[in-house]
Amino acid sequence: MRNAEITGWGKCMPPNVLSNHDLEQLVDTSDEWITSRTGIKERRISHVEASELGAVAAKRALAAAGKTAEDVDLILVATCSGDSIIPATASLVQKHLEAWNAAAMDINAACSGFVYGLVTGTSMISSGGYETVLIVGTEKLHYIMDFTDRNTCVLFGDGAGAVVLEATEDDAGLLASDLGIDGSVGHILEVPVDGSHGDRTHPDPQMCGISMEGQEVFKRAVTKMGESSTISLEKAGIALEEVDLLIPHQANVRIIDATARRLGLDEGKVFVNIHSYGNTSAATIPVALTEALEQGRIQPGSLIVFAAFGGGLTWGSAVYRWGKRIEPIAESDAQLPPTDLTTMDLLQPNFDFFGLPEKMA
Ligand code: UT7
Repeated sequence: MRNAEITGWGKCMPPNVLSNHDLEQLVDTSDEWITSRTGIKERRISHVEASELGAVAAKRALAAAGKTAEDVDLILVATCSGDSIIPATASLVQKHLEAWNAAAMDINAACSGFVYGLVTGTSMISSGGYETVLIVGTEKLHYIMDFTDRNTCVLFGDGAGAVVLEATEDDAGLLASDLGIDGSVGHILEVPVDGSHGDRTHPDPQMCGISMEGQEVFKRAVTKMGESSTISLEKAGIALEEVDLLIPHQANVRIIDATARRLGLDEGKVFVNIHSYGNTSAATIPVALTEALEQGRIQPGSLIVFAAFGGGLTWGSAVYRWGKRIEPIAESDAQLPPTDLTTMDLLQPNFDFFGLPEKMA
């Protein structure tokens, strides 16, 4: 049966780091609080737009798959902090790649966006129309981070990951999935206005930053990531013991641990890298997948569960059987342009717009 298989993978993390110790200089927080409550030690702050981060991750994924931009017939970009509303970030990624044979569109399912993209891309291939689909999760979340709000400004970061999905007749690819959303509670994690490129226009800065009822989101994330994964495993006819690796969305290490506990999955089978990057929304899963491959955590035929939860409030899970190849075919020399700007230089527009962080005021 025609399925779709991940044949290339890549990530692009911008070079500027914002550590917990840096945050201690800005707001009333501590490395101890952030580490124990979230697992995060540092995150990245990007000097380029989400489309450029995504394009570099995509070039690395294409090289890993042994493909060129011309081979791509569909680009799906999962993002909630794209460059502009129109054109879509997918259009800008296409331009960066010069992938002129591709259709392209954005998917905004916030932190669940990559799982939504994987399901959509697989369906587009399985239904016969497409051969090579690029799925990019990319975020420049710092644009909407309000450093006067310690509840949210310690959680998020920037980055991008990408995969190449190709048609296959092998016993590999998506076995089952479950996607959902509860729009009735969308307001408990929201950014009411503005895209992330150009001037902010709304007179009330608070309308332009992330606002979140953290505990409500936390409870729902733990429940839904576990429930959704169980549904996908049942649909696939796969027992929990057969799962080799859970690659969850990285929002909070306590959410990840609680999800694994609820499922009854050994912690050695869970991939965690939140300490390095914080919550990069739609980028967390493709970045984690790339690092899992780099670290030898995935073998030919491995059974992987992807699980995510995020703004919307969305959730999604997928049971995926890895194919034969775990090494990249080639490496791309694509790089971000260098920058002389410091992390604080990059955050200055946030301070100007949202207000100075408590300790700078
Ligand atoms: O990507 C998907 C969407 N996002 C998520 O899944 C995030 C879900 N939520 C969470 O991860 C957690 O709820 C948070 C990390 C946001 C917060 O952790 P928590 O354990 O739920 O803390 P809390 O909100 O109950 O706050 C506990 C205390 C409060 O102080 P009081 O009222 O007990 O005196 C907060 O004011 O911690 C305080 N607090 C902080 N203290 C130091 C909140 N933020 C900070 C901070 N540093 N950055």
